[in-house]
Amino acid sequence: MNQVALRFAEPNEKRKIYEWLALSDVTSQMFDDDNPPETWENFNRDESDFLFDHSAPELGGYLIITLGGEEMGAISYACFHLIDKVAELDIWMRSFKYCGLGYGVDALNQLIDKLHREQGIKEFIIRPSKENVAAIRAYKKCGFTLFEDFDPRNYVKEEFYDMYGDGDYGLGGDITLIRRYNI
Ligand SMILES: CC(C)(COP(=O)(O)OP(=O)(O)OC[C@H]1O[C@@H](n2cnc3c(N)ncnc32)[C@H](O)[C@@H]1OP(=O)(O)O)[C@@H](O)C(=O)NCCC(=O)NCCS
Repeated sequence: MNQVALRFAEPNEKRKIYEWLALSDVTSQMFDDDNPPETWENFNRDESDFLFDHSAPELGGYLIITLGGEEMGAISYACFHLIDKVAELDIWMRSFKYCGLGYGVDALNQLIDKLHREQGIKEFIIRPSKENVAAIRAYKKCGFTLFEDFDPRNYVKEEFYDMYGDGDYGLGGDITLIRRYNI
């Protein structure tokens, strides 16, 4: 299998990344009527500019997943809201035609290696909807294991707890997986 490449997203790619998340065919794999995707206005407000302008890579960022120059999706990491040496990841391919081919797992492996190497991150968490069986299967292939007794109070900084404590799918809507790196 060809390896994907990752490049940091640019500020003018924020809207496109939102559309891949909320307005593409893969949207239905992540969200439903009970748990709809956030609006563009909220995404634009909550996903800070530093995630797109490379000004604070130690805090987080969005990257575009490409193969042979073709854009296939987006992957992100965020550390600003978590305790030291932990990152929260998220990923979505932009169409089902890029899913099920191992590219997402490849992108995750590459980003995890990079963050460990460059920033000394030791624990990676990811919090998919508990309904997203395909994503959970992919994350397990990538070396993540279920973190059954995950308590966000031990990971999310107090000042960010109200906003990020429950994850994107609300209390009880997600499951947490973790990959520990050489602890
Ligand atoms: C989750 C995701 C990043 C995984 O990356 P991937 O490269 O597709 O991972 P894999 O190739 O290992 O496939 C994972 C599973 O997807 C499922 N899958 C296979 N083909 C598929 C297709 N055409 N469309 C959708 N899902 C498919 C399979 O169940 C597969 O597991 P299996 O190989 O054990 O049968 C990617 O599927 C994706 O972006 N999905 C849509 C957005 C999403 O759900 N993001 C997760 C947010 S937490």
